[in-house]
Amino acid sequence: MTRSIAVAAQQLEEDIAGTPREAIETRRSMRRFLPRPVPRETVERVLEVASRAPSGVNIQPWRVYVLGGERKSRLSEALVDAHFNRADEHQPELKRSPDRLPEPFKSRQRQIAWELFGLLGIQKGDREGTKAQHARNFLFFDAPIGMIFTIARALERGSWLDYGMFLQNIMIAARGEGLHTCPQAAFAKYHAILREHIGIPEDEVVLCGMSLGYADPEAPENQLVTPREPVSAFATFVDV
Ligand SMILES: Cc1cc2nc3c(=O)[nH]c(=O)nc-3n(C[C@H](O)[C@H](O)[C@H](O)COP(=O)(O)O)c2cc1C
Repeated sequence: MTRSIAVAAQQLEEDIAGTPREAIETRRSMRRFLPRPVPRETVERVLEVASRAPSGVNIQPWRVYVLGGERKSRLSEALVDAHFNRADEHQPELKRSPDRLPEPFKSRQRQIAWELFGLLGIQKGDREGTKAQHARNFLFFDAPIGMIFTIARALERGSWLDYGMFLQNIMIAARGEGLHTCPQAAFAKYHAILREHIGIPEDEVVLCGMSLGYADPEAPENQLVTPREPVSAFATFVDV
């Protein structure tokens, strides 16, 4: 283990966030989890706290499928198989980003992809390595708990705002339990398989998934700390 990984590993071990600021600042997308189980009561507590999220006229548009054990393993198997063998047959129902991401967004996307693949030793242009890493999404990055989030088809984009707050609350509440997460849009593409395996009705749209568990403190991919623009780059202060 290199020194920087050892230091990060020590910081990650048993790191329970005490304050909201600590919870927000220590939340990062983790992409390798330990086999340590997460009790159902803990997941319920996280979801209960998260459901305090505000929503326009309190409609609470969220619906969560919490997966573990054998059913989760069987679903992962089916998703990995589709990812490697039938990816072209699947499309997400909601378009998340434009076909060509404009600047400055494209550069930001590139930077984190290179940094993540760099940590994993995946070279630029290594299509197989990239595809194999993407497949790890469908194993929920080995987390004991996987969640799939849906929204009623009848709702409009306004409710996605509410939904984002709920998702963020889950990730923050998880930190208060010493848990980590990875939000994952990757699942949306395979909504047909998700419907079949976990009985999601047609009047719900699959938005994304999320891995939940204890992060592996030594995994290289968990050392990724993504940068942020300074406040001066995105905030305009008027008469303040
Ligand atoms: C809605 C949403 C979908 C995401 N989908 C994925 C995904 O499918 N796979 C993945 O590895 N990371 C996914 N991410 C994680 C982002 O890459 C990550 O949040 C971003 O790079 C910032 O890093 P941080 O979460 O560590 O701060 C997603 C994040 C969000 C908010």
